[in-house]
Amino acid sequence: MKIIVTGGAGFIGSNFVYHMLNKYPEYEIICVDNLTYAGNLSTLQEAFKNEKFSFHKVDIADRNAVFSLFEEVRPDIVVNFAAESHVDRSIENPSIFVDTNISGTVVLMDASIKYGVKRYHQVSTDEVYGDLPLDKPELLFTEETPVKTSSPYSSSKASADLFVHAYNRTYGLPITISRCSNNYGPNHFPEKLIPLMIINALNDKPLPVYGDGQNVRDWLYVEDHCEAIDLIIHDGKIGEVYNVGGHNEMANIDIVKLICKTLDKPESLITYVNDRKGHDRRYAIDPTKIHSELGWLPKTNFENGIQKTIQWYLDNRDWWEEIISGDYQNYYKEMYSNR
Ligand code: NAD
Ligand code: TYD
Repeated sequence: MKIIVTGGAGFIGSNFVYHMLNKYPEYEIICVDNLTYAGNLSTLQEAFKNEKFSFHKVDIADRNAVFSLFEEVRPDIVVNFAAESHVDRSIENPSIFVDTNISGTVVLMDASIKYGVKRYHQVSTDEVYGDLPLDKPELLFTEETPVKTSSPYSSSKASADLFVHAYNRTYGLPITISRCSNNYGPNHFPEKLIPLMIINALNDKPLPVYGDGQNVRDWLYVEDHCEAIDLIIHDGKIGEVYNVGGHNEMANIDIVKLICKTLDKPESLITYVNDRKGHDRRYAIDPTKIHSELGWLPKTNFENGIQKTIQWYLDNRDWWEEIISGDYQNYYKEMYSNR
């Protein structure tokens, strides 16, 4: 089995690469990534030691490059993680989100049709459903919840999902889509809430909480997401969407306080800053379908997962110090100095 994994140098993609190499030693894993600010080859250092792993620096929106790669590799399965993934960046610069998240998806599917790919899997997000109110905890996103997006990021992901459905219906491309809640774990780029707070706390820097800190996200340990995708690409029904989430809703402020407590840092580091524009209030996934059809259940609860994650950042200072010493400084200044 030959699997193209796009975005494999990023957070979830790299965890998926390791998951697949470890679980299926006979599979070939072909990683495709153009190494944006979010892609990091050092994350794949161990994978490079495995002869079943290869890496190709290719932009998924570059039609010629993608087609010649498919010609060479002839993949059985394509799993598309590659994306611009940060909501705050999408608010500042939406057009790259159109290029990568929408056009890139279309190019990958065109190549998948031409080269007879047996399964094209789109890694999507619960953010395509918009948000839920805080005062109606019984409401959850199901696969039938209408798509109704808030940010340029979620709009680009939702648009891509619509193209994926269209390619199934119009051209018969065998597709599946997963829509997962917020992930956390190793290799998470420190622009996102959890790694940013861990690293700022370790450096005794302010912890910038947007708005009132009461926004709720439904957190899932990254390995559980990888297992869900593994199940879907092997046993999921063609043409179907699967929501992935572990019933773990938490308010941002509670996570930040937990990080302070675990690292023995004072809560006085917490600084409330101006809210994100269009900030989604609450995400919450109903994972009944993937549980009942594919038997998926998360294995790591938040208590253990967050401890493992914090420990990973303590043990891998070189990884994140390298990142925050580069362009990240400019990003941080631009994003946070006027908040
Ligand atoms: P990430 O930003 O950490 O990684 C994205 C990777 O894609 C990087 O390695 C980057 O270099 C690569 N990439 C970007 N543009 C590319 C292009 N044009 N061509 C080739 N490679 C390109 O993102 P992530 O958090 O790992 O998210 C992966 C996928 O999962 C995304 O599609 C995202 O929408 C989805 N998702 C993420 C979460 C989450 O909580 N992080 C939750 C649900 C779904
Ligand atoms: P983020 O990790 O960017 O994921 P998403 O917006 O895709 O869910 O943000 C998670 C939550 O944390 C979101 O409600 C915004 C909030 N947040 C902060 O309060 N401060 C920060 O510095 C960041 C990056 C996020």
